[in-house]
Amino acid sequence: MKQFWSQGSINKNKGMVENLRRYGVITSEKVAEVMEAVDRGIFVPNGSPAYADSPMSIGYNATISAPHMHAMCLQLLEKNLQPGMHVLDVGSGTGYLTACFALMVGPEGRAVGVEHIPELVASSIANIEKSAAAPLLKEGSLSVHVGDGREGYPEFAPYDAIHVGAAAPEIPKPLIDQLKPGGRLVIPVGNIFQDLKVVDKNSDGSVSIHSETSVRYVPLTSREAQLRGN
Ligand SMILES: C[S@@+](CC[C@H](N)C(=O)[O-])C[C@H]1O[C@@H](n2cnc3c(N)ncnc32)[C@H](O)[C@@H]1O
Repeated sequence: MKQFWSQGSINKNKGMVENLRRYGVITSEKVAEVMEAVDRGIFVPNGSPAYADSPMSIGYNATISAPHMHAMCLQLLEKNLQPGMHVLDVGSGTGYLTACFALMVGPEGRAVGVEHIPELVASSIANIEKSAAAPLLKEGSLSVHVGDGREGYPEFAPYDAIHVGAAAPEIPKPLIDQLKPGGRLVIPVGNIFQDLKVVDKNSDGSVSIHSETSVRYVPLTSREAQLRGN
């Protein structure tokens, strides 16, 4: 797996963002601003090296993704995260990226997280309440729900942007259906070998798909299979 720096070399959120810029991962001012505002330290389990460039276990056979993956996904989706737009974060886990999305789309927009482990939904809400996105949670433009993200989240569809934080064997049709024309879905696809796919919905409803990079994510699966560890 790619790692731009290791544990221990960085102990502040600002330093993490500076490193992401230094290694050329972050090129967008807006993404840098948002990742500086949302302190990753709030979202990782106590005692974890919060600002190292690696995924970390968050329990329930789930992880928080590495900072460079968060930055990459924010940048891939940036045009579809303009103020007022709607974004769905499937497999929202710790809530970190949902909080970043909410700051991107602002109070006129809507950021929705869907996660199938109820305990993670509860802890993600507690994390967000301590973060820069807390006012958006309070006002209601940011919300996190328990559900099977393979079904999307129809209540707030259609979405300008959909991010999936777990690898699907194939792209779930409900996610394409819930994308607006002009909308973009970023999703890891595959089993052992996975590609981060970018799916753009055209104005006629057809989709264009390209692979961005090879990745390694936990599976997008049923709750039971995840808790069994397969
Ligand atoms: C790699 S973690 C990413 C979490 C989040 N992006 C973060 O960085 O904190 C993937 C998440 O997807 C969740 N997940 C897996 N399958 C799911 C499904 N069918 N519906 C909803 N969430 C799912 C897992 O529980 C886990 O929290």
